[in-house]
Amino acid sequence: MSKLTVVVGAQWGDEGKGKITDVFAKDADFVVRFQGGNNAGHTLIVNDQIYKLHLIPSGVLYVGAVSIIGNGVVVDPKVLLQEISEFKARGVKVNLKVSNRCHVIMPYHIAMDEGITKLQGGLAAGSTKRGIAPVCADKAYRHGIRLGDLLQPEFFKEKLSVAYNFNKDVLEKAFNVPYLETLENIFNEYIEYGKQLQEYIADTDLILYDAYKNGKNILFEGAQGMSLDLDAGVYPHTTSTNTVAGQVSVGTGVGFNEKLKIIGLAKAYVSRVGNSPFVTELPETEAKTLRDKGGEYGTTTGRPRRVGWLDLVQLRHAVRANGLTDIAITKLDILAGYKNLPVCVAYNIDGQIIREMPASVYDLRRAKPVYENLLGWEELTPEKIKKIIVGGYEALPENIKKYLTFIEKEIDCPITIISLGAKREETIIK
Ligand code: GDP
Ligand code: IMO
Ligand code: MG
Repeated sequence: MSKLTVVVGAQWGDEGKGKITDVFAKDADFVVRFQGGNNAGHTLIVNDQIYKLHLIPSGVLYVGAVSIIGNGVVVDPKVLLQEISEFKARGVKVNLKVSNRCHVIMPYHIAMDEGITKLQGGLAAGSTKRGIAPVCADKAYRHGIRLGDLLQPEFFKEKLSVAYNFNKDVLEKAFNVPYLETLENIFNEYIEYGKQLQEYIADTDLILYDAYKNGKNILFEGAQGMSLDLDAGVYPHTTSTNTVAGQVSVGTGVGFNEKLKIIGLAKAYVSRVGNSPFVTELPETEAKTLRDKGGEYGTTTGRPRRVGWLDLVQLRHAVRANGLTDIAITKLDILAGYKNLPVCVAYNIDGQIIREMPASVYDLRRAKPVYENLLGWEELTPEKIKKIIVGGYEALPENIKKYLTFIEKEIDCPITIISLGAKREETIIK
């Protein structure tokens, strides 16, 4: 890895960021989350053990790496404490620091998520119901609660009384849902979480600045993906934080004033959990086979993921919006066995051929895929995968190499990481 390496999703999330972060974390001194919250679900398979992470960075399995949750992450303290204790129970040493500036997901945020989704109807993104949009809204309103507040009871009470009353009013008066949790109970519960998290809460910006100045290897782990970015993504079917690499400095509090290695994660096909237009989506009759083969069920919510063919309009957007230096392609093993592989190179919107992502969902709703058909490759048995891993890039089936070369040319970004399985070692780095 380079001194400063960023891993971000180039599609709709669930591209395999956890796996690839874990692969690179071997050489990292720090592994850092900089946005998102526990809407994320990252799965690692190491020594046949499965680890699912929502908040703790996917470098936690390496003793040498410090895990950092930067200020751009919204934190549900209950979930964080549970994740810490689960890792400890499995014998993993949790070397973690969390920014005192992280905004805290409160119980009323989770209650609000339900109401907002209902209200938005067909415009809703289909949230994970983890309170992400409401906590980000409170942050923007400027009455959000931050982790550091939980360590200052008087100040916490002062802020909570504003935030609690606001959210209770919206819930009861706008959504007609009685909100029965009392301010007192929430206060007591969250003060307790503050006590339990105290040893982890820190000025992580200072820790990271020091690391940066001293030339440490820092790996930034994104959550979600390109099309879910609050500004650049398929708004309003997005999440409520920025997912692109430009968020790294904002979400850690450190201005990294040099060129970063920015790896965009892309599945060999596309999956989407939630609502939005999905131009290359497979009809349900064909989707089920790919979904089941790829295990495309949400890590966080268990929802079946919608699946479709690779979309290069989306990947071109990811290259541009993130400043990608590299692409990592995952799940090529899952795509095996198809005779033909349609790859979307452009959209047809009312007869116009468009190669770049339109800003408006209204246009995207009418977009039809323009496909190039590439040749597929044979099933990859575990034995074949082992052989390929030993032989490296050259040992890949010819049609995989052609698939990769075609993508590189179309999106103008090199594919340098190729993943052929969920396990750490099933990876080729070019
Ligand atoms: P993330 O949110 O981007 O970290 O991705 P998820 O962990 O939610 O979803 C990716 C899933 O694919 C996980 O279950 C991974 O273990 C798995 N995975 C990652 N890379 C590969 C791969 O190359 N092949 C296969 N078969 N599975 C993979
Ligand atoms: P990882 O990090 C896939 C989707 C939700 C919904 C929209 C908004 O595992 O790739 P939110 O709960 O953020 O308000 O939901 O974003 N979404 C994800 N989809 N992977 C994720 O994270 C996601 N995080 C949020 O399904 O459409
Ligand atoms: Mg995921």
